[in-house]
Amino acid sequence: MYTDLKGKVVAITGASSGLGKSMALRFGKEQAKVVINYFNNEKDANSVKEEVVQAGGEAVVVQGDVTKEDDVRNIVKTAIQEFGTLDVMINNAGRENPVASHEMPLDDWNKVISTNLTGAFLGSREAIKYFVENNIKGNVINMSSVHEMIPWPLFVHYAASKGGIKLMTETLALEYAPKGIRVNNIGPGAINTPINAEKFADPVQKKDVESMIPMGYIGEPEEIASVAVWLASKESSYVTGITLFADGGMTKYPSFQAGRG
Ligand code: BGC
Repeated sequence: MYTDLKGKVVAITGASSGLGKSMALRFGKEQAKVVINYFNNEKDANSVKEEVVQAGGEAVVVQGDVTKEDDVRNIVKTAIQEFGTLDVMINNAGRENPVASHEMPLDDWNKVISTNLTGAFLGSREAIKYFVENNIKGNVINMSSVHEMIPWPLFVHYAASKGGIKLMTETLALEYAPKGIRVNNIGPGAINTPINAEKFADPVQKKDVESMIPMGYIGEPEEIASVAVWLASKESSYVTGITLFADGGMTKYPSFQAGRG
C-alpha cells in the first residue's frame, strides 16, 4: 500500500479492460478516486467501476475517444467536477494490428498513431495545463512498450507510436520538471491482456514469445499495475523522464542469454 495515494484523483484512459482495468483496480485498492475512461465498452467500464468501489476506492465512468481534443478535455473536466481535482493522468488507451509495412493502409497507420501517440499527447497536454494553471505538482504516466526500443516488423505504426512516446515523455519531463510535474513511461513487455488473447491462445505463438523473455513467462496485468502505483506515489518523487520497463528482461537481448555471440 502507498498511503499517499488514498484520496488521490487518478484518470486512466482505456480503462474498461486490460492494463487500464488492472491499474484502475489497483488504484481502487489504494483508496484512490478513479476516472475510468472507455471508448466503446460501457458495460465493461461499469463493472470496472463496481470493482474499484468494492476494492475501497471511488470511481466514475466517462466515455471518450482519446484522439478527439474535446473528449480528452472532458476526461479532465470529469475528474474536476466529480472529485474536485486531478492528481495523476495515465494515458493508457492503445491499439495494434499486424500488417506488412509495404501494404499497410494509411488508415491503419493513422488509427494507431492517433490513438497511441496523439492520444497520449492530448492527455498529457490537458493534464499538464490543469496542473500548471492550478499550481499542482501532478503526475503523468504514459503507457509505452518494449517497442519504444525494440523494432517490430508488421507493427511499424505501433513501434513508431511508442518510439514517439519515449521522446514525447522525455521532452515533457524536461519542460515541466521546474514546476514539480513528473512525466514517466511504463514499458510493458508481453502481458496477458485481451490485446494479446488470440496470440497467447495459440501454444506455438505463446512458446515463441516466452522464448524471448529471460524470466520465462508472460507477465500479468497486476505486474504492470504495481509499477503504475509506484510511479504515481511519492515513493518515486525524484523520478521523471524515464521508461520503467516491466518486461521480464525482454529488452536485454535475450538471444545472448546462453553466452552466445
Ligand atoms: C504489445 C504486445 C507484444 C509485446 C511484446 C507489447 O507492446 O502490445 O502485443 O506481445 O509488446 O512484443
